[in-house]
Amino acid sequence: MTSPAPRDRVDELTVGSGARLEELVDRESLGQLATSFADLSGVGIRVFDAEGKLLADAAQPVELISYLSTLKHSRSAIESTVSSVKNLDPGPEGQAGIDGVSGGRYRVVALEHDGRRVGRLVIGPYFPPSLRDIPSQLLELEPALDLDRARQLLTMAPRVTDDSMDRLARHARAALDVVMFSGLRALLTGSMHLAAVRESYRELQSKQDKLQVAYDRLKELDRLKSNFLATVSHELRTPLTSIIGYSEMLLEGIAGEITGEQREFVTTIREKGEQLLTLIKGLLDLSKLESGTMSLRKATMEVAPLVRDVAQTMAPHAKKKGISLQAEVEAGLPALWADAERLRQVLLNLVENAIKFTSAAGSVKISARLSSLSTGGSADEGGLVLLGAQRTAVELRVADTGIGIPESERQRVFDAFYQVDSSSTREQGGTGLGLSIVKRLVEGHDGTVHVEANEPQGTAFVVAIPLKRATLRP
Ligand SMILES: Nc1ncnc2c1ncn2[C@@H]1O[C@H](COP(=O)(O)OP(=O)(O)OP(=O)(O)O)[C@@H](O)[C@H]1O
Ligand SMILES: [Mg+2]
Repeated sequence: MTSPAPRDRVDELTVGSGARLEELVDRESLGQLATSFADLSGVGIRVFDAEGKLLADAAQPVELISYLSTLKHSRSAIESTVSSVKNLDPGPEGQAGIDGVSGGRYRVVALEHDGRRVGRLVIGPYFPPSLRDIPSQLLELEPALDLDRARQLLTMAPRVTDDSMDRLARHARAALDVVMFSGLRALLTGSMHLAAVRESYRELQSKQDKLQVAYDRLKELDRLKSNFLATVSHELRTPLTSIIGYSEMLLEGIAGEITGEQREFVTTIREKGEQLLTLIKGLLDLSKLESGTMSLRKATMEVAPLVRDVAQTMAPHAKKKGISLQAEVEAGLPALWADAERLRQVLLNLVENAIKFTSAAGSVKISARLSSLSTGGSADEGGLVLLGAQRTAVELRVADTGIGIPESERQRVFDAFYQVDSSSTREQGGTGLGLSIVKRLVEGHDGTVHVEANEPQGTAFVVAIPLKRATLRP
């Protein structure tokens, strides 16, 4: 007979209906039960499962049997009794008995659960008190028997009447029923818990699979988008350079004198062309940064000249809007290991934004100072920040007194094409690419960039670029 694997039963939640005795009752409880039975009755007891496997053994040594086992004929008779007992079917009654050659009796009791036989109790040997002397058949079988000794040992053997044995057997069976019932309950609870955990795990797994598919698809779309941007920008750049070039030639009068109005039109063509070119360059940069094909040409560079240069470049622009532009660099700043041209682009973008979103009479300040940058953990992660290493960094800060960025938007402004106010009535131009390029360029330098509120008004963009480890100053 093959019993179904425990796992299948658990999955179907039909737990218990096919359970084996060993699954219903643990060996230890069975052992304890058997021992207390033997102690109480003075009669040995063994518990077998349905397949005949011994699960608990509380045999009580009976000296008469031990003595008989030393004699040739009675030993084989005892052995044959033991093997008959082992194979004895308790029959439809659920109980059967067998008599041994010594006069000792065995009782076999069926253990049932849920209408099935799950095992047997074998109780014995016990000797009915009515047995007053050594059975005559033993005397015939074993001529070498020391009758006096055998009689003496018989007086010490456990004496139980059949009626008492009936009661004892019922008691043992009832006790086991209770134990099996609580075992079943534990098995059910455990299995249901297991089934519930399995089910949740299956659900999680399938959600995870779906997420993975969605993630792969998004990644593929993102790659396609980057490719598309790269190709389109590249293809747009060449004709646009011609448009700008030809409009410049027209303005220079290479194709002949032009009237004032024509000059005005051609100037607009050139300006809009340049605007478009800036946008296209931004797209190209972004797609290169996204695909990881932009290489940074890092070298040792000083921060002060960079800040000065950006301030000078943007000064006319600020002046035109009536905004004061200041630059301040802490003395003795260490040199950075960075791509100077790309850092310039970062600062230009930030200052351009600062001027763009600040109205006349406002101010913009670029500053640089030594600071530190935590890596491998962020301040948001609370205690985890302790685990992250601190690196010395140069902090570049562009602060303005402009319209400010609401707290809820401070993460999103770094998304490509995201603008806080994207309404058509918005005064300021732009496409929303600047900050996404800034962020990627800064990350390309292992740095960070974030937005803060500038007190009492406006916005401050803070970029931190870590120093190259070897260039750290003591
Ligand atoms: N200094 C600032 N003050 C207020 N808002 C800002 C500032 N800098 C950026 N923003 C907000 O973040 C948005 C995104 O900035 P980003 O530089 O990426 O794009 P943009 O300036 O609109 O266009 P682009 O830089 O591509 O010309 C801006 O549109 C604006 O809403
Ligand atoms: Mg911008």
